[in-house]
Amino acid sequence: MIVKSLELKDYRNYDRLHVQFHEGINILYGENAQGKTNLLEAIYFSGTVKSHRGSRDRELIRFNKEEAHIRTITDKGNVSHRIDIHLKLNKSKGAAIDGIPVKRQGDLFGMLNLVFFSPEDLYIIKNGPAHRRRFLDLELCQLDKVYLYHLNSYNKALMQRNNLLKQITHDRSLLSSLSIWDEKLAEHGQIVINTRDSFINSINEVLISIHKKLTGGSEELLLLYEPDSKAEDMLDILTRSRDKDLILKTTTAGPHRDDMSFMSNNIDLRKFGSQGQQRTAALSLKLAEIELVKAAIKENPVLLLDDVLSELDRNRQNLLLNSIGGLQTIITCTGLEEFISHRFEIDKIFHVENGSVTCNN
Ligand SMILES: Nc1ncnc2c1ncn2[C@@H]1O[C@H](COP(=O)(O)OP(=O)(O)O)[C@@H](O)[C@H]1O
Ligand SMILES: [Mg+2]
Repeated sequence: MIVKSLELKDYRNYDRLHVQFHEGINILYGENAQGKTNLLEAIYFSGTVKSHRGSRDRELIRFNKEEAHIRTITDKGNVSHRIDIHLKLNKSKGAAIDGIPVKRQGDLFGMLNLVFFSPEDLYIIKNGPAHRRRFLDLELCQLDKVYLYHLNSYNKALMQRNNLLKQITHDRSLLSSLSIWDEKLAEHGQIVINTRDSFINSINEVLISIHKKLTGGSEELLLLYEPDSKAEDMLDILTRSRDKDLILKTTTAGPHRDDMSFMSNNIDLRKFGSQGQQRTAALSLKLAEIELVKAAIKENPVLLLDDVLSELDRNRQNLLLNSIGGLQTIITCTGLEEFISHRFEIDKIFHVENGSVTCNN
């Protein structure tokens, strides 16, 4: 699938924008703070109704404006679709496909699959567990509608249970309603845990060979899922941690505390990996993600590379650029030198300056 064009109105630092992308490699270059990431974020939002950096909807609306609009024209197997999203300051967002209003991310499912790669992703091993959970969730929510539903339901129930834990301090009679939320959390949480488990297994099936290639055969990389509680024990654990939760006024067990480790030749890279090893492993993970999405949707996703080339050494730049063949790719960077020195073929070049985009070729 590809993004044929993007139109923005009052989105971030864009007043109005209309760009047409090439189905191959597109480069957006420009100084810092000109709107390159904002543009990729808008494309990502069209497919997922989420900001890749976790921004709130209202932050996406141009300062001092009431609403923002994003329109993308996509092409999938020669069928074109129009995705419209509008964001309003004091109302919830709306979306439409070919002019027909839809409500949730689930309704946009499969319209536009994206893999976003930002410099932050290179720190996935070094950063805290929240970053690793986010990776799992962002990807799974694009690939698995059932997961999306259960994760959202889990998060809602978690919020309700945490609110209740706070209220119980003032009103002990509410204690009896806690078990309703325990059951809901266990019901949805079990599916979240099992799905993450099997997703990590599928990643491992492609990750090992990719990482071997990237390390010249010297490292065997394996992801290990570290669920906070086992799926089948969830209800038990929630019941047992109730006293502790009442004191701390928050839910202390469940998949919102999950983590995963990156084991290279049986060594935990979180603790013992050099910076270079951690980055290579992160790159392998991203390349594995692309393969996995391709296999899952039986299509090519659109690849968004936000300023990552400058973060990689020449060798890793080559490995990345060599593995994007066939995918529509939109790359942001500050300069074009890297591409020239790699003799990398570019189909369309745009210059981004202060919220306006001009095409150079
Ligand atoms: N809601 C908003 N309204 C107007 N400008 C915004 C908004 N959000 C961010 N910006 C501006 O966008 C710019 C950053 O854009 P970004 O896409 O991150 O730049 P870069 O080209 O470095 O990737 C900053 O100047 C910031 O002030
Ligand atoms: Mg940027």
